[in-house]
Amino acid sequence: MSVTKPLPHDSARLHVTGAARYVDDLPVPAGTLHLAFGMSGVAHGRIVAMELDAVRAAPGVVAVLTAADLPFANDVSPVAHDEPLLAADAVQYLGQPLFLVVAETHLAARKAARLGRAEIAADPPLLEIDAALAADSRFESGPITWQKGDTARALASADRVIEGSIAFGGQEHFYLEGQAALALPAEDGMVIHSSTQHPTEIQHKVAEALGLPMNAVQVVMRRMGGGFGGKESQGNALAVACAVAARATGKPCKMRYDRDDDMMITGKRHDGRIDYRVALDGTGRITGVDFRQLMRCGWAQDLSLAVADRAMLHADNAYDIPAMRIENHRLKTNTQSATAFRGFGGPQGMLGIERVMDHVAHATGRDPVELRRAQFYPEMGSQSPGITPYGMPVEDFILGALVDRLSDSADYAGRRKAVADWNAAHRTLKKGLALTPVKFGISFTLTHLNQAGALVHVYQDGSIHLNHGGTEMGQGLHRKVAQVAAAAFGVEPDRVRITATDTGKVPNTSATAASSGADLNGMAVKAACDTIRDRIAELLAQEHQSEPRRVHFAGGKVFVGDAEISFAEAVDRAWRARVSLSATGFYATPKITWDRLKGQGRPFYYFAYGAALTEVAVDTLTGENRILAAHILHDCGQSLNPALDIGQIEGGYVQGAGWLTTEELVWDDTGRLRTHAPSTYKIPACSDRPRVFEVALWDGENREETIYRSKAVGEPPFMLGISAFLALSDACAACGPNYPALDAPATPERVLAAIRRARGEAE
Ligand code: MTE
Ligand code: MOS
Repeated sequence: MSVTKPLPHDSARLHVTGAARYVDDLPVPAGTLHLAFGMSGVAHGRIVAMELDAVRAAPGVVAVLTAADLPFANDVSPVAHDEPLLAADAVQYLGQPLFLVVAETHLAARKAARLGRAEIAADPPLLEIDAALAADSRFESGPITWQKGDTARALASADRVIEGSIAFGGQEHFYLEGQAALALPAEDGMVIHSSTQHPTEIQHKVAEALGLPMNAVQVVMRRMGGGFGGKESQGNALAVACAVAARATGKPCKMRYDRDDDMMITGKRHDGRIDYRVALDGTGRITGVDFRQLMRCGWAQDLSLAVADRAMLHADNAYDIPAMRIENHRLKTNTQSATAFRGFGGPQGMLGIERVMDHVAHATGRDPVELRRAQFYPEMGSQSPGITPYGMPVEDFILGALVDRLSDSADYAGRRKAVADWNAAHRTLKKGLALTPVKFGISFTLTHLNQAGALVHVYQDGSIHLNHGGTEMGQGLHRKVAQVAAAAFGVEPDRVRITATDTGKVPNTSATAASSGADLNGMAVKAACDTIRDRIAELLAQEHQSEPRRVHFAGGKVFVGDAEISFAEAVDRAWRARVSLSATGFYATPKITWDRLKGQGRPFYYFAYGAALTEVAVDTLTGENRILAAHILHDCGQSLNPALDIGQIEGGYVQGAGWLTTEELVWDDTGRLRTHAPSTYKIPACSDRPRVFEVALWDGENREETIYRSKAVGEPPFMLGISAFLALSDACAACGPNYPALDAPATPERVLAAIRRARGEAE
């Protein structure tokens, strides 16, 4: 069967030959104009005046638009209507678009944009989380708190209380293809090509901005060169800018951000801090944890509430802790609006509890894996499953067995001893080891987003045209979904043509996000294919005086009783008999319910699991470090495509490790992002990959009825990177008696600071 085969990405050949077309590669009509934003150089204030004559007079400039020139809605926000395309009055971060230049070339637009002068009455910017907390600058009226058990009592009656906090950085998405959009004015509407994970939202925002119904706007998306959550909402501004400029000029308009502009303008992962207090009983068991999660959301709400909720939903990770209180603050600051990024808050929440485990193991002298293992939720099949802090039973827990298997295969015990021996014998180079688990909830926490649609056509020659609501960003979604379609018809996947995601074919789609792309769209596609297949089966059964259930599709053939014909012939017969060979399919995830304000319900259909062991070396003189080895065991249920899944796991781990090690965003005290290019912002390169990098798939299937019992894989492996961070913490801990309290990202400077703390030296 074509599902479960390790087939290459559907565009693999196009990717490596450079023939894959992204938005900026599409041939454009003659006369296409190019756009650039003029940006604020001030983080907070009010616009007093704008001097744009020099911009208008610059070579190649066709038009310059300000907020006052926008005909309808001046808003590109996904939810809260608090995000103007162009600042109208208030300026809320340094880099905010103030005006839009429309010019004959990309370069002319960018050069002209530099000539604008804005007079801004500056106010002091709120930049840091503590300042925002002090000023009570936040989204929602106060912090959100969820709890299970009585944490205050657990702390009051504890034998020992451990306290600490961990600061964590944000993360730039660094999709290789930057944000881009192209608007083609049509007779009575607009066609938009956009590098977006969310075509329906682009359609919605463009329609609002043009004062048109959604049916007048068509959004087309063939592929992205990476999205990672950064193209769920951050593409809105470019698409809307192109649409309003195209309306104003009657010409096609295209916009793509230069890398520096992309980093200055768009939102990143939420940075922040987690403070914790942990109650231990006499045996060293954790009886309660109190978390205070502080998240810097930036100037606009964007998706921050849902991201912060997901941080809270992962505060327990794999651990059955009798009492937990999670207080989460969504702080509003004069910085880029933090947005979705792989894991969607989950990584931040999980980092908190993994830090707690690391700290407790250090404080009690217990082996960190043994400590974690002892506090795991009960395994799947147990009489009484554990209950999360948000009231959901954990019925599919497999980490006990999975961690045991990984500990054995990667020889955790042997390595632990080897690392200890090394550290005893070496003063300058210290090694560290960590094994950490991941339990990640799968479903959108906004329940209504868990739906998908598909449209399938079978042409009279037996070729199949497939469309669904998901977008391709490199993760291999189209390949997986084509495998599902091929399996339904019993044909080879190369008979299935994957077409661009198109709001004119499948409407009202959700963002391709929350790792649910294959779960949702795979099911919708299967439903559509099954409908067509059943119609063909019915016809053939009639013709052969058989029953539809005795018609089978396999190996490119259709078997009816004793007869067999080719799939193409079956299709031809159906066409001649006037049977419809086109169908839509629809899917809505069952079982989920969620009350986010109470923090109660079943927000997730199921959990995906994994664990990673990382070994690192640290140079204690410079703080420089590297990952020596990573061993991963990850659960994809019954994998739809092991090759793609392993790719997602490797990439997720490396990106997660990058977040917590080399990737550092630095703002100066005026609110200017100082790291806005690869020269100053360091993502992991090929040469940074672990030299020993072993990834294996857990052999199991989803207990829920997902598409062929697979599990989502897009985000969960990102959090395996936490093991790299805690391995660095372990190496720092080898330098002295104290807990090193390493902050993230663990740059050489922070590693050195942690070593000094471990040694008890002044910082
Ligand atoms: N993999 C690649 N190559 N490029 C990406 O942009 N995005 C990640 C993940 N893996 C991403 C990726 C994110 S944030 C999500 S939510 C999922 O893919 C989305 O796709 P899926 O739902 O089909 O897994
Ligand atoms: Mo992924 S952060 O849900 O796009």
